[in-house]
Amino acid sequence: MMFRLKLTTALSVLLSIILLLAATLYWGTHRAGYYFQRSQLAYDTSQAYVQLSHDAYRHFKELVDIVVLDGDASVEQAELSYQKLQQSLNRLRIATNAEIHQVDEQELANEKEELEQIKEIEKILSEGIWAFERIMFLQRRGAEEPAQKVLETVLEQTIDQQFKPIIDKGIAEEREELENAQRQAQHLLSDLKWMAAVTAIIAFCLALAMAIWLLRNLSTPLDRLVKGVRQVAKDDLTHRIELPGRNEFTYLAKNFNDMTQQLAQQRQHLLFAQTELENMVDTRTRELQNANEKLQHIDEGRLRFLADISHELRTPLTAIRGEAEVTARGKDKAPGEYREALTRIVALSNQLGKLVEDLLFMARSESANLRFDLSHLVLNNLINDVCEGTQALARQQKLQLSLQVPEQDINISGDRRRLQQVLLILIDNACRYSDPGGKITIILQADENHATVTVCDQGMGIPAAELSEVFKRFYRGKQARDGVPSGSGLGLPLAKSIIEAHQGTIGVASTPGRQTRVTITLPVLSSEPLAADTAEM
Ligand SMILES: Nc1ncnc2c1ncn2[C@@H]1O[C@H](COP(=O)(O)OP(=O)(O)OP(=O)(O)O)[C@@H](O)[C@H]1O
Ligand SMILES: [Mg+2]
Repeated sequence: MMFRLKLTTALSVLLSIILLLAATLYWGTHRAGYYFQRSQLAYDTSQAYVQLSHDAYRHFKELVDIVVLDGDASVEQAELSYQKLQQSLNRLRIATNAEIHQVDEQELANEKEELEQIKEIEKILSEGIWAFERIMFLQRRGAEEPAQKVLETVLEQTIDQQFKPIIDKGIAEEREELENAQRQAQHLLSDLKWMAAVTAIIAFCLALAMAIWLLRNLSTPLDRLVKGVRQVAKDDLTHRIELPGRNEFTYLAKNFNDMTQQLAQQRQHLLFAQTELENMVDTRTRELQNANEKLQHIDEGRLRFLADISHELRTPLTAIRGEAEVTARGKDKAPGEYREALTRIVALSNQLGKLVEDLLFMARSESANLRFDLSHLVLNNLINDVCEGTQALARQQKLQLSLQVPEQDINISGDRRRLQQVLLILIDNACRYSDPGGKITIILQADENHATVTVCDQGMGIPAAELSEVFKRFYRGKQARDGVPSGSGLGLPLAKSIIEAHQGTIGVASTPGRQTRVTITLPVLSSEPLAADTAEM
């Protein structure tokens, strides 16, 4: 049951009892007022009877004085007493009429009888007074005896036997009414006392029961709600308020529990989002650090590259300048000498031009700004052409250059000139770092996806420690530097850039003092020819 309904019911009962008590008290005071007025009127009426009796006897006494003592002075007194008697009669009438107006139905008949009784008294008094007038009339006529008889009759019958009993009866009746009203008032008061006590006890018990019930019903849920709020204030969002039944408090507890659950979920989401954000920030920071390191690395590389370029350019330039200065300074020389000097200058300029070209290529490859003229190539033909072109160089070095090429054409897509350049670099190295009499073999193989070109020589080889360095710009092996002073250390890095631009790979394997084997792989074309002969990369 809803707490509000219980409370309303209990309060309604309590209010009804209080209203009942108030109504009883109002009715009681009303009745008490009635009985008080009733007794007052009964008392007034009885007093009016007493006064009437007194005034009547006094008037009759005055009349007796007049007729017996024949006193003239008594006539005035009798007039006065008569007026008083009339006043008393009026007073009695007024009192009785007031009673008639006040009494309830039960007593109305009695009071009307009293009115009749007053008329009877009036009649008796009138008869008595008339009798005295007759006595006086008889006395004036000198009929003393009849007058005496009438007087006796008046005194005995009218006053003693008629007037006196009726007055006594009236007084007795009014006294009885007075006593009745007082008795009823007393009954009423004792009833009121009893009712007030009972109602007060009932109201007290009910109020006490309500207070106990309220305390019991309020204290437990309130304690639990307060505890719940404190727990949440202490940041304990797992706390739940358990309340049995179905009332306002259980609804409140349920809403409170829902609210804390939502708070906990939102906090979990927030924590999750915070962790995710932190992770993202970490990742971004790491990426930024990596990018920064890369940039620093590139920057260092550029600085080193610039220094290397300057150094490498200076060497041939110094040689050209030296050659020219020596030629220009000397006295007249034979034309042959000038020609030789100019030939050396041209050779040095070519070397310088090649170096500049290589450097430009390297710089472009680093900035991904290379242009390749791609075309459909038959790798077998390309290797044959390069071999033919380098046979003279090999022979010059007393080396034997042989070729192992399959009969089946191996098709690739590539830049003819650049790929020729790669083969030239590799054959040039094999020639340079081999002793005379050695053998150089170029082998071409292919599977479904890749073509493999291997350049083998029987030269000085590369120490294991240098293998990882040979593709770095300007790197030259110690033995190579000692044996062949010329050389810029750009050959293999250049070859690597070109091959990688063709989605290929390049690797070196070597046994120092015995042989070196450089292997290139390139993706082969499927049997379909390339749609366009040139493309930009
Ligand atoms: N066939 C080889 N046999 C032995 N050492 C080799 C061979 N090919 C390359 N090397 C080593 O690798 C180094 C780098 O070769 P790379 O071609 O890049 O430069 P280089 O030959 O020294 O100069 P250049 O720029 O004139 O070619 C060489 O200096 C040498 O030490
Ligand atoms: Mg080289």
